[in-house]
Amino acid sequence: MDWGLQNRLSRIIKPETGRTVMLAVDHGYFMGPTHKLEEPRKTIEPLLPYSDAIMCTRGVLRTSVNPKSHVPIVLRVSGGASVVGESLTNETITTSFREAVRLNVAAVALSIFVGTPHEHQTLKNLGRLVNLGEDYGVPVLAVTAVGKELEKRDARYLGLACRIAAEIGAHFVKTYYCEDFAKVVKGCPVPLVVAGGPKLETELDAFELAHEAVSEGAVGVDMGRNIWQSEHPVAMIKAIREIVHNGASVREAQRLYEDFKKAGSPLLAKTQTR
Ligand code: 5RP
Repeated sequence: MDWGLQNRLSRIIKPETGRTVMLAVDHGYFMGPTHKLEEPRKTIEPLLPYSDAIMCTRGVLRTSVNPKSHVPIVLRVSGGASVVGESLTNETITTSFREAVRLNVAAVALSIFVGTPHEHQTLKNLGRLVNLGEDYGVPVLAVTAVGKELEKRDARYLGLACRIAAEIGAHFVKTYYCEDFAKVVKGCPVPLVVAGGPKLETELDAFELAHEAVSEGAVGVDMGRNIWQSEHPVAMIKAIREIVHNGASVREAQRLYEDFKKAGSPLLAKTQTR
């Protein structure tokens, strides 16, 4: 891999642990003002110090992230469909590579929709982006998206989609955690990060997801709603970091989450210093 590509990728996947905690805040590109991401800056700012990278569109980057921030950006460059439209899978490339380079991104991201009527179009999008990524030294993250068909998230389908993404040249792949996830990892020769998916019932469920995913070979998470739709997003991302970077167990993460919650509550913090 070329020096620039390696350098950019190592800003996201930290060489110290070989892992990453990416914060996904790109939901608005097809979901509009998603619950708790209505005002992106308010959601993003407190989480930035604990994010190894953030995944967002150019619109959110320009309006809601301080350009003086050092956080690596994974720029979502695909889109063209919405939750109220006919199909979520009809995506094109919406942001030029020139723009991505001007925005000094660490990587670009797009969705592929394997097994849908837009499979060919979205895989062609990936091929084009990888060619440009190789030209400019910018890694490409392929997201094995499932649109509204959440039930597609099994090892057979995700294994197929991840492998196709890697064969076309994606430098890393974002997919879902599933039963037999180790099989998905085995068949994918590039690093995998897992999405959180829709908000799970409890924090514990999200800790379990992150723990299982990294135990079975993911290099980390690219998590959104399970962090910022939590009542305590900062405590949540800090606990997820403990799992991903420091090998905390699910139980340790839960205990740390409770501690981080208390530390983050000004009233309690004051009480504790008395
Ligand atoms: C959509 C995406 C989102 O970034 C992704 O779903 C991650 O966020 P969450 O953890 O909320 O699912 O890539 O295609």
